Amino acid sequence: MNSTTRTIEHGRRDGFASLSAGRLRADSFPMRLFAKGNAKHWDPSSIDFTQDAADFAAMTDDERRQTCALAAQFLAGEESVTQDLQPFVAAMAAEGRFGDEIYLTQFVFEEARHTQAFRLWFDAVGMTGDLHPYIERNQPYLEIFTRALPESLQALAADPSPVNQIRASVTYNHVVEGTLALTGYFAWHKICAERGILPGMQQVIAHIGADERRHMAWGTFTCRRHIAADDALWDVVDGRMQELLVPAMGVVTGTVDRWPEGEVPFGLDLNEMAEYAMDKVGRRLGAIASARGADLRAIDADAEPERLEERFHAEDSAALAAAAAP
Ligand SMILES: [Fe+2]
Ligand SMILES: [Fe+2]
Repeated sequence: MNSTTRTIEHGRRDGFASLSAGRLRADSFPMRLFAKGNAKHWDPSSIDFTQDAADFAAMTDDERRQTCALAAQFLAGEESVTQDLQPFVAAMAAEGRFGDEIYLTQFVFEEARHTQAFRLWFDAVGMTGDLHPYIERNQPYLEIFTRALPESLQALAADPSPVNQIRASVTYNHVVEGTLALTGYFAWHKICAERGILPGMQQVIAHIGADERRHMAWGTFTCRRHIAADDALWDVVDGRMQELLVPAMGVVTGTVDRWPEGEVPFGLDLNEMAEYAMDKVGRRLGAIASARGADLRAIDADAEPERLEERFHAEDSAALAAAAAP
């Protein structure tokens, strides 16, 4: 039997990618991400939240409520993505891509680690009761995290086609991670950095941001390889983005919209947040569009998705520094 045709699909294995010539290459894009993630290990339980507890206790009631709303969205969001990525792991096996499967197991683990980090923070600041009320007033949030995200990822279990992979990746990597989480970091920066509070949370956000850049790079890589193989799939990217634009913007504005004009804690500005989020949507589309007409053979080793995320990170750092300037 030819080693390139042996299947590694879950439940149907008749061979091994790792034993086949050239099927698990260390220089492939997903294996490089995997090596990078292993070298950047961090442990949430080693972060000291003592000062965070003191800073949290010193906040006004409104500030505490706003901080909990943001942290609860992150905590429930990390739990959701830990669960919802799992069909993508099996989809990579069905496609015979063991390097991607290896990377996605690390990716799932990292989302679990992010969930642990936010849960430890809530415990440390004394918020051990039911936190559902903090997310339940944000309807678009519920629409994305209890419907759009799980449905588009679960669709891969029945049919791991390129169309379904793109719909799943746009939802997960480009909207939830690339738009919502990044806009959330912007809000954390407003809360923490300008006042020099919550140093433990600042460390968590910095670590998570680095993990997420690898996640988004993988999402860009995955969309790129499908688009490079079939340019008609670009319409799937664009269509899915359009479907999610309204609920995604609703999540962002719903995070801060229940305060009277001019009274939002920490000076969070709805328009500024919405503008920041819209910029991210445009940027995600641009990242995927960069693969249109690209050489499919070169894509598996092409570092462009990583370079894009590093460039975006540099832009974000500049925007955050500007936002923090007095
Ligand atoms: Fe995460
Ligand atoms: Fe992530």
